[in-house]
Amino acid sequence: MAPLAFLLVVFCMAPHFFAESSILYNGFLEGKRLILDGAAVVKPTGALRLTNNSPNVVGHAFYPDAVKMFDKSSPSYPNASSYSATFVFAIDPSSPGQGGHGLAFTLAPSTNFDGAESGHFLGLFNPVNNGNTSNHIIAVEFDTVNGHGEARNSRGNHIGVNINGVSSVASRPAASSYYIDDEMLKEIEIDSGDPMAVWIEYDGLSKTLNVTIGFLEQKPETQLISFPVDLTTVVKDQMFVGFAASTGIETSSHYILGWSFAVNAPARQLRYSLLPKGPKEQNLSSSSINNPQLKVVLAVSSIVVILGIVFLTFLFIRMKKTESLEDWERDCPHRFNYKDLYTATNGFNDSEQIGIGGFGSVYKGKLSSTGAEIAVKRVKRNSSQGMKEFAAEIESLGRLRHKNLVNLQGWCKKKNDLLIVYDYIPNGSLHSLLYTPKQSLVLKWEQRFNILKGIAAGLLYLHEDWEQVVIHRDIKPSNVLIDADMNARLSDFGLSRQYDHDETSHTTRVVGTIGYIPPELFHTGKASKSADVFAYGVLLLEVACGRKPLGSNQFILVDWVMEWYEAGNILYVADPKLDSIYKVEEMEMVLQLGLLCTRWKQEARPSMRQVMRFLNGEDPIPSLDAWANSQSIFESNSRLTMNDRSLSPSVGPISSTSINIGR
Ligand SMILES: *[C@@H]1O[C@H](CO)[C@@H](O)[C@H](O)[C@H]1NC(C)=O
Ligand SMILES: *[C@@H]1O[C@H](CO)[C@@H](O)[C@H](O)[C@H]1NC(C)=O
Repeated sequence: MAPLAFLLVVFCMAPHFFAESSILYNGFLEGKRLILDGAAVVKPTGALRLTNNSPNVVGHAFYPDAVKMFDKSSPSYPNASSYSATFVFAIDPSSPGQGGHGLAFTLAPSTNFDGAESGHFLGLFNPVNNGNTSNHIIAVEFDTVNGHGEARNSRGNHIGVNINGVSSVASRPAASSYYIDDEMLKEIEIDSGDPMAVWIEYDGLSKTLNVTIGFLEQKPETQLISFPVDLTTVVKDQMFVGFAASTGIETSSHYILGWSFAVNAPARQLRYSLLPKGPKEQNLSSSSINNPQLKVVLAVSSIVVILGIVFLTFLFIRMKKTESLEDWERDCPHRFNYKDLYTATNGFNDSEQIGIGGFGSVYKGKLSSTGAEIAVKRVKRNSSQGMKEFAAEIESLGRLRHKNLVNLQGWCKKKNDLLIVYDYIPNGSLHSLLYTPKQSLVLKWEQRFNILKGIAAGLLYLHEDWEQVVIHRDIKPSNVLIDADMNARLSDFGLSRQYDHDETSHTTRVVGTIGYIPPELFHTGKASKSADVFAYGVLLLEVACGRKPLGSNQFILVDWVMEWYEAGNILYVADPKLDSIYKVEEMEMVLQLGLLCTRWKQEARPSMRQVMRFLNGEDPIPSLDAWANSQSIFESNSRLTMNDRSLSPSVGPISSTSINIGR
């Protein structure tokens, strides 16, 4: 009996790792199956070429059998299983530095991508299903063009994680710590034509997706992206794995030279010596062959090259005529042509004006080259000083990508005018939805809650998840735009410092909007993450109560909510327009969180990461007293009196327009 029982136990415990879902391709010849469509072909060398150099094509290559993403024997069960992939790719641009669109390592519920579009849709999505959670698609993109529908060639050179749509939830410029024993990431060009190795690892237990890139040597120590994300609700039980690639107006040939993949196990090591040659080495070796056909090809191509140079010179001279550029402006991938923006907005016609912000007017436009809708902010300045620094700032902010940010596409300068180009967001601002809703459409509580979470996610990304800390400086409902799916998108981030740049003044200035400026800012003048948290707290209360932060008769929203909180009847302040239709615990939590975030003392405010945990219900919201104790902050009388408030020059029925207060 006993030995049999023992045998049974051993048998039952035997793990099912490596179960059919381990894939290995050292080159793609060897008669192994692969589902190809679009422009994808396997070349005689064994290299998989997903796109050729034609414009607007897509190509797919997927492993024909689905892999199981939920496995009872996996340590992460019932969450999605871990997976691991490594592959070698090469991107051969049509001309150096001008490669178009990108390729994506993809997990998808089907291998049918009918209707998916080329260009920035990567052959995975289209304008209709973009962002829809029923897509169940996870893609790690290697993109050589930044932004949507840019008029000019640009070298995006970034790597991003995309879930169900083309906006990356995490994205970084391509970089690698390729030297052994070196942790520092250095930028690398992914469309150099050289083969590059990638490691993608999802850990189902810690729910982290890591992406590492390097050359064909040892795997670099430092991950380029380490992104916390739970794929449990994204993946389906059965998923197909493979690659998608697309070209746009600019083109590239996208190659995969080898690929290994496994679920619940590390992907097996590729044998680099067995891999087919990349496009670059291919060109080198073939040009040394001495055949007459090749000579004809070479002769023809040199004529083409000469014609090309003549044409480019002609173009260059024309460009010089229409727009005189300063030296520093030439190498900015996010720079737009003034003429394109002028045409797009009908010459900055009043009829296209969609808003007037603190810093200038905003126009809606449509780029004639791509048909993409854009919003153009026109900022008038008194001098062109600081332009270069401003451009540098925008070049850097232009690389920020998050689903809760309004993507900054680029900029353009014309004499003293600055134009900043953003994605166009259709549903207007949170301010107008709260206070002047169209057709008396009142935002429902679940919409408000989702919007508040979105703003927090965007702000957390700016504060902690990007390569440098970005302080928003002007969080308020009119800087939150609402997209077609009623998700929040933060706009105008990070720029206030530059807007405020003033050649005559070296004094500190307070930038922000009355009602959202924390008290310490009036003393220190220094923007900080906790100042953003304060403004976010005011916004929480505003959205829950449906009231502006300051009203007539010295009404101060924060104090008013605090009074009702202390009276033990916080729900009294809930927006009456909601007709009492809301989840009580959510409403209470949001109101209390608003009070935590607007603590008088900077140190007593939570970080955005903590805020996110409260909003997601991962941590219960503490009472104000418990919170103050846990933070060991002495706040005997945490409530502000009217007199305290009058320290700031902001008391009174002042409307919420942006101001600068010099100190
Ligand atoms: C998402 O896609 C599903 C299935 O195609 C569709 O029923 C649904 O309406 C879409 N949702 C949105 C917001 O477009
Ligand atoms: C992902 O990266 C993080 C941060 O570097 C690291 O701690 C973790 O072990 C990595 N996970 C995997 C599965 O490689």
